[in-house]
Amino acid sequence: MIQIHPAGRLKLAVLASGRGSNFDAIYTATQDGRLNADIKVLVSDKAESLALQKARQRKIPAYYLDPSAYSSRSAYETELVSLLRQHQVEVVALAGYMRLVGKVMLEEFRHCIVNIHPALLPAFPGLNAQRQALEYGVKFSGCTVHLVDEGMDTGPIIMQRVVPVYDYDDEDSLSTRILEQEHQVYWQSLQLMAEGKLYLDGRRVIVRT
Ligand code: GRF
Repeated sequence: MIQIHPAGRLKLAVLASGRGSNFDAIYTATQDGRLNADIKVLVSDKAESLALQKARQRKIPAYYLDPSAYSSRSAYETELVSLLRQHQVEVVALAGYMRLVGKVMLEEFRHCIVNIHPALLPAFPGLNAQRQALEYGVKFSGCTVHLVDEGMDTGPIIMQRVVPVYDYDDEDSLSTRILEQEHQVYWQSLQLMAEGKLYLDGRRVIVRT
């Protein structure tokens, strides 16, 4: 059994492609002392990402890294790793980051890349998870915080939250209900890491108190 992170303040990077509401929730938790972490840097693969603007307003170092400027995923990630290391990052939180993480990042930040997904994995991985859940007709869905591995939303699960799916739901209403839970469960999972309580046993994440 291996400890995922020793007890201590997390040196965090947030990677985001979009509006950054999970970034907001993580940031607020660091500011009011619920989450023992510093967001050292925010990186986006989209120039127009709202998360980039928010980071700049918050005086967090913020970078746009354009994937099309690199010849391969590895070349892009080599640059990303160097940026993250310059900022002393130890843990990477993907918050609406719309790219698969490759070998270079996974080797550099082994067991230290975390993602949030808006479904109860292993159900409905990939894009449009809330729409997939509605179309399938499940009565409950939710969100999952998990460690990132080489697959698409396949890594060891840290925490999940369940929400009901109602007959009158559409994608928006279900997404909103799930998002409220995402904004709680993400910082709570990271806080368990900061407390040194998370251990990996095979593909199971165990919380030791
Ligand atoms: C969230 O639903 C998250 O679960 C998924 O992408 C969305 C990002 O939203 N991975 P935001 O940019 O954090 O508001």
